[in-house]
Amino acid sequence: MDRIRICGSKSLKGKIQISGAKNSALPLITATLLTDQAVVLENVPALADIVSMSELLMQFGTKVEADLSHNRIQLQTTTATSLVAPYDIVRKMRASILVLGPLVARYGQAKVSLPGGCAIGTRPVDIHLDGLRQLGAEIELSEGYIIAKAPKGLTGADITMPVISVTGTENLLMAATLAKGTTRLINAAREPEIIDLANCLVSMGAKIQGAGSDTITIDGVSSLKGTTYRVIADRIETGTFAIAAAITGGDLLLKNSSLDLIPSVSAQLQRAGVLLDQVGTDIHVRAPNGIHGVDVMTEPFPGFATDLQAQMMALMTVCHGASMITETIFENRFMHVPELCRMGANITIHGSSALIRGVSQLRGAPVMATDLRASVSLVLAGLAAEGETIVHRVYHLDRGYERIEEKLNACGAVIERLAD
Ligand code: UD1
Repeated sequence: MDRIRICGSKSLKGKIQISGAKNSALPLITATLLTDQAVVLENVPALADIVSMSELLMQFGTKVEADLSHNRIQLQTTTATSLVAPYDIVRKMRASILVLGPLVARYGQAKVSLPGGCAIGTRPVDIHLDGLRQLGAEIELSEGYIIAKAPKGLTGADITMPVISVTGTENLLMAATLAKGTTRLINAAREPEIIDLANCLVSMGAKIQGAGSDTITIDGVSSLKGTTYRVIADRIETGTFAIAAAITGGDLLLKNSSLDLIPSVSAQLQRAGVLLDQVGTDIHVRAPNGIHGVDVMTEPFPGFATDLQAQMMALMTVCHGASMITETIFENRFMHVPELCRMGANITIHGSSALIRGVSQLRGAPVMATDLRASVSLVLAGLAAEGETIVHRVYHLDRGYERIEEKLNACGAVIERLAD
């Protein structure tokens, strides 16, 4: 397994191109199952999860022409030759559940492995299944698989989701585009990726209103068509590199992204003393005067993203004063804490909150990545730390950060990948 070696204490200066959003590209890839025509997606990040999702679609008979070095992928499912999403792919990537809605909507059936638990918590899929049932699908669980059937097609319904779920909203949004009649998704997720999916579906001929609010209305159509669509910027990568500038006292221009994608994160960073300015289509980030402790609670969008919690914690380890970070979305998302403590951080966990007392300097150490966002928080800590940090199990990073070493090295970081 590859490792990453970082020689820290270097201030980052320069420009970083923000990639397309992984969490937009994944549902957009599955949305292409809704039409027999070709869909071209642009600004798709070259990431392991994108390759896994493309491979999953190839199992259904989708013709995939990927040119990820140019961030472009064309997908066409003239007709599916299989409707089974096997355990081996789904267990690697929970977002595989996003094939369920499109397959049932277009083919009236699907068999998708239950994703099971993952490092950050139990993560059930009851919202996806209950919503599909309300659209008329019969769902049974057998031998670890979800077996969904709707031989006469889906029918629109009012669905009130008891918990705000991003992929749950996306699955039901996609399914409803081909249902008969009108569907209202109430208590829907409001993430920018939901708006991106809705915009792409509209350009495929879907009738959708209200995406980005808590109620989305979909008037079903009989078929959808092909399109060419450009994925929005990755807000989690944006926030991560903004924190990289802050934690190293650096000065970065984040190219092609927007503060509108990270409203709460940018507000909290500004309270902590980070200077953030939108300059046209770029974001200018500096932290010339050090970092103050701020309290953060993760929440669904527009609240503070749970996917930036570990990175914010890395920043708070070197703040003046103290900070309380409360995780409300996932129950087991503090696995980076013991690793940050190995680097000299002072953090204590109390239930779903972590109390971080700032230290003047982190020290490099060998550390272990446990999940995607935890691993990047260790990279951030390594950039700030004195001496050498080795991050083990970096394959997690490759699921979510495109060319991360190259992007950081270009701004003065000393970071390299070591093959085992
Ligand atoms: C998505 C993101 C992930 C992010 C998360 C929260 C993608 C591909 N992944 O994951 O990066 O961390 O949103 O912003 O977009 N829940 C249920 N029942 C369900 C579904 C979810 O109880 O059927 C709960 C979860 O356990 C969790 C909360 O709802 O506590 C939010 O999870 P959800 O929004 O569904 O996360 P994902 O869509 O899996």
